[in-house]
Amino acid sequence: MITGYAHFAQLAESLQWDEKAIDFSADREAWPRLTGAENARVLGLVAGFVIAETSVSGQLGAYEAAAPDESMAAVFQAQARDEARHARFFDRVSAEVACVPGELPAQRRDALRAHVGDELVDLFEHRLPATARRLAEDHAGLTAAVGLYHMVIEGVVLLAGQHAMLDALEGLSVGLPGVRKGMELVLRDERWHIGFGSRVVQSAAIGREEADALLEQGETAAKVWGDLITTEAIETAVRQHRRRLKAAGIKFW
Ligand SMILES: [Fe+2]
Ligand SMILES: [Fe+2]
Repeated sequence: MITGYAHFAQLAESLQWDEKAIDFSADREAWPRLTGAENARVLGLVAGFVIAETSVSGQLGAYEAAAPDESMAAVFQAQARDEARHARFFDRVSAEVACVPGELPAQRRDALRAHVGDELVDLFEHRLPATARRLAEDHAGLTAAVGLYHMVIEGVVLLAGQHAMLDALEGLSVGLPGVRKGMELVLRDERWHIGFGSRVVQSAAIGREEADALLEQGETAAKVWGDLITTEAIETAVRQHRRRLKAAGIKFW
């Protein structure tokens, strides 16, 4: 029998994929034919993912170090491998499909910051790293840190963005099959990341203040995409967040 968190590590192993194997030739040809509005929406979402995935992939070391046992630590490590792959995938999209200028990923990322709002940059480049730094100093903060990373950032912000991207791709005047393929694979990984985070939160005793903060953070965080995501999509994401928190045994007063 598999105990603890080992099944998440096994699942991760079985879902590995290679971002270099995705063929962008049709996407590259189609990109210049996007309308102005389509280009702005898709590029804005890609910019958000480049910034988000680069940031999240760098923060999991503190989580791994704070894990109370090896089985949980191994899952954070498996997740870090996924997030690094996601960051490379979105960087490939920005460089090879959208032709964002810059020799290096960091240069392209600098160019992409202009396509998203300050709140998104602040969440990923300041608030999440600050939480990981606090966690590195005080391992007792693991549940709250998982709450921000897995439940709020992945469960609300990124999931809402990924669904918005799939919707946008569906409605485009031209097809972007490579981008679509990669998005589906990213979403598949994110589902187990969120499941894992919910399990960590479920195993911990969460007090009233922490529960309220998680709910409120979700409601605020969903708005960081600005006009790139519809109000309905934000409402859906927040509803699912509330349901996931309840399923993890968190009570709301
Ligand atoms: Fe990711
Ligand atoms: Fe993730």
